[in-house]
Amino acid sequence: MSDKGKFQAIKGVRDILPPESALWNQVEQTAREVFGTFGFAEIRLPIFEPTELFARSVGGDTDIVGKEMYTFEDRPKQLPDPHEMPPEDYVNGVRSLMKAGQIPSDRAVLAKLDFELENFRLRQDSPERADLIWLHKVTAIRIGESVSLRPEATASVVRAYIEHGMQVAPGNVKLYYMGPMFRRERPQKGRYRQFYQIGAEVLGTSDAPGIDAEVIEMLLAFFERIKLKGAVLSINSIGDKNCRPAYVGKLRAELQKVRDQLGADSQRRIETNPLRVLDSKLEHEQPIIEKLPRIAEHLCEPCREHYTEVKRQLDLRGIAYQENWRLVRGLDYYMRTTFEITAPGLGSQNAVCGGGRYDGLVELLGGPATTKGIGFAIGTDRLVLSLQESGAGDVSGGPARPSGGLDVYIAWFGTAAQAAAVGLARRLREAGFVVELPAVEMKFGKALGLADRLKARHVIILGEDELAAGVVAVKRLADGTQQKLAEPELFSYLRAAK
Ligand code: HAM
Repeated sequence: MSDKGKFQAIKGVRDILPPESALWNQVEQTAREVFGTFGFAEIRLPIFEPTELFARSVGGDTDIVGKEMYTFEDRPKQLPDPHEMPPEDYVNGVRSLMKAGQIPSDRAVLAKLDFELENFRLRQDSPERADLIWLHKVTAIRIGESVSLRPEATASVVRAYIEHGMQVAPGNVKLYYMGPMFRRERPQKGRYRQFYQIGAEVLGTSDAPGIDAEVIEMLLAFFERIKLKGAVLSINSIGDKNCRPAYVGKLRAELQKVRDQLGADSQRRIETNPLRVLDSKLEHEQPIIEKLPRIAEHLCEPCREHYTEVKRQLDLRGIAYQENWRLVRGLDYYMRTTFEITAPGLGSQNAVCGGGRYDGLVELLGGPATTKGIGFAIGTDRLVLSLQESGAGDVSGGPARPSGGLDVYIAWFGTAAQAAAVGLARRLREAGFVVELPAVEMKFGKALGLADRLKARHVIILGEDELAAGVVAVKRLADGTQQKLAEPELFSYLRAAK
C-alpha cells in the first residue's frame, strides 16, 4: 500500500491491460493452433504443489528452489493452538488430526512433538520456564504440509503424468500448458516475480533425437507464425549420469585451482554445482571460464552419438543453430540436449525460451524408469516485449476495447426506444458485431461525442420517429454519411462495412 492508503500491485507483479492483453491472447491462441498441428493437447495444472516436488526435480541447491520460491505451510484452520491447552492435549490433538487425514500423517513430526513433551515433563521443577520453552519449541515444528507456488511447470507435468498413469497411452504423450509462474527474483525489465510461460513437454519411451529436433521445429514454427524477428537458437549437450559426473569432477578440480580469482557465487558453486559457474556473467570471470574443460570433449559415446544426431536432425529440417558449450541451464533435471532461444529488444534478460531433455526425471519422481522426456518453456512476458519492440505487436482497437474495435454504438432516446435497442443489440452481438449500448439515456450530442471517443465505426440512432417508421438511422463516423435502414438492410450494410 502507498502512503495515501491506495493499493498498488506488489513489487515484481503487474497488470496486463488492454489493448496489450489482446496481443497476449493472440500469442496464446497461435500457440494453441501451432502446437495442435503437432499433436499436442493442453494440460491445466495447479498453481501450487508440495514444496518437495520442486525440491526433488528442479533441485534443492538451485537458485530457484533455494532462494526464489514462495513457500508456505498449509495448516488447517481447526489446528489446536498450543497457547490454549496443556501440552498433552496439544500433542493428542495433532495426532488425531493426522489419523483423520486432516493434516498429512508425518511420523517425524510426531517424534519431535513427543520429544518436546518429554522435555517439558522433565523441566517441571520450574513450571513457568518449562511452559515458555515448550511454546518456543512447539511453535517451530511445522505441522501442515509445506506447499509452494509453482516456479515452473515441468515438475507438475511429470507429477500428473505419473499420477494419471499416462504411460499406457499409445505413442508419446504430448502436452502443452500456459499460465503464471512465481519466482522471487530481483525485478527488472523482462524479469518479474509473477511471470507467464507457454510450455510443452513430450513424454514417452523413446529418446530419439528426431523428437528433440521436432520440438525445436514446433517452437520455431510458432515464433515464425507470430512474426518474432531475430530469434537465435543455441544448443548444447550436457551428457548423462554416465559421463557427466567425471566431467563435473574435472571441472571442480580446475575451478579449485583458480578459486581465488572467482567471485563469491562461483566460489560457493565449486562445491554445490560447478556446472553453474559456466553460466556466470561476471566480466572478470570470462577469461577464466574460457580456459575450463568443455563437456563436448567428455561426452560418453552414446551421448556423443545422440548429440550428433540431434544436429543432423536439425540440419535436415533446415534449422539454423549455434552451439554454446556453456549452456548448462539452471535446473537440475536436464540431461543431454539443452537449448535456449534469445530474441532482440530485451536487454540483459534476452532468453525468450529455454528447454531440454530430462530423461531421468520421471523415475526420480517415482514413475517408470523407461519414460524419457523433453520440453521447453517460453517466457510470454519477454516474447510479448520483443514483439512490441520490433513493431510486430501492434494490435488495433482503443483502450479497453476488443481487438477488432467497436462496430456499433447505439444511441437511444425514450423508454420505448430503449426496449427496441436492447433487442437490436442482442441480435447484432449474436451476429458477431461489437456493440456498445449505453445504460442510461444521453443527450444526442453527448452520445455522439462518446461514440467518437470510443472509436465506434457506426452510430445507430433510435428514437420515437425511427421506431414508428420501423427503421433505424445509421451514421458512419468516418465521413458522417447517414441513412435510414430497416433491420435486414442494416445487417447487410454493417456486414459489408466490416
Ligand atoms: P527456465 O529457463 O527457468 O526453464 O524458464 C523458461 C523461460 O521462462 C525463460 O527463458 C524466460 O523467458 C522465462 N522466465 C523465467 N524466469 C522469468 C522471470 N522471472 N520473469 C520473466 N520471465 C521469466 C523452465 O522453466 C523449464 N521448466 C523449461 C522446460 C520445460 N524444460 C523442459 N521442459
